Amino acid sequence: MIEMKQLCKTYITGKVTFDALKRIDLTVTSGEFIAVVGPSGSGKSTLMNLIGCLDTPTTGEYTLNGTPVSSMTSNQLADIRNRKIGFVFQAFNLLPYATAYENIEVPLLFARVSSRKRRERVSELLARVGLADKAGNRPTEMSGGEMQRTAIARALANEPDIILADEPTGNLDSKSGGEIINIFKQLWNAGKTIIVITHDVNIAKQAQRIIRLKDGFIEGNGNML
Ligand SMILES: Nc1ncnc2c1ncn2[C@@H]1O[C@H](COP(=O)(O)OP(=O)(O)OP(=O)(O)O)[C@@H](O)[C@H]1O
Ligand SMILES: [Mg+2]
Repeated sequence: MIEMKQLCKTYITGKVTFDALKRIDLTVTSGEFIAVVGPSGSGKSTLMNLIGCLDTPTTGEYTLNGTPVSSMTSNQLADIRNRKIGFVFQAFNLLPYATAYENIEVPLLFARVSSRKRRERVSELLARVGLADKAGNRPTEMSGGEMQRTAIARALANEPDIILADEPTGNLDSKSGGEIINIFKQLWNAGKTIIVITHDVNIAKQAQRIIRLKDGFIEGNGNML
């Protein structure tokens, strides 16, 4: 499903260049649950941005579902980000003035889903993450765990095959974090591919495979921490 060959990412800031990812070879098959770990600055978010087609590699090849990403048009990439991949971030990234319902509806609007189907789908998603009674709450009227569950429901709106999460429990207490991880496990059991960046050893231990980054390299790739 995901195949990266000798992928490099170099950031250029003024006259300074920085190799954030160096010759990354990575294959992820459909239905895997992967944790990405490593120190701050090791390239985890950079890798996630590349996997999610939010950014492009400097060199190397990335093939997603058999198609080289470099050959895709910007419309095709936008469609992949909307329909094939669900993103979950540490800071939730919800629209501040919109309710839980409206936040979850956004990707459906972009996908031009009919209003009747949107209503059905948002209600189903709210129930699935245990927020049926919070549909009308804005982010300021929700707990951190509820905001993150709203963000997960939004990520699931168009039934993506891949869920990419960057420190999804970083801003949560351990109980709320545990609930988030349980939702990811349910999604994995339902056949989704899950890739979670985490500093939390307890989360990493629950994944099938742990990819350890260090200074832009893959230092470890296996089932041991
Ligand atoms: N847009 C950018 N321009 C220049 N340098 C960048 C940019 N984004 C990231 N970097 C640098 O690339 C390196 C990797 O950053 P990245 O965000 O991938 O790290 P990370 O492993 O996610 O760290 P953290 O655990 O702190 O989130 C860092 O040294 C960072 O300073
Ligand atoms: Mg990061």
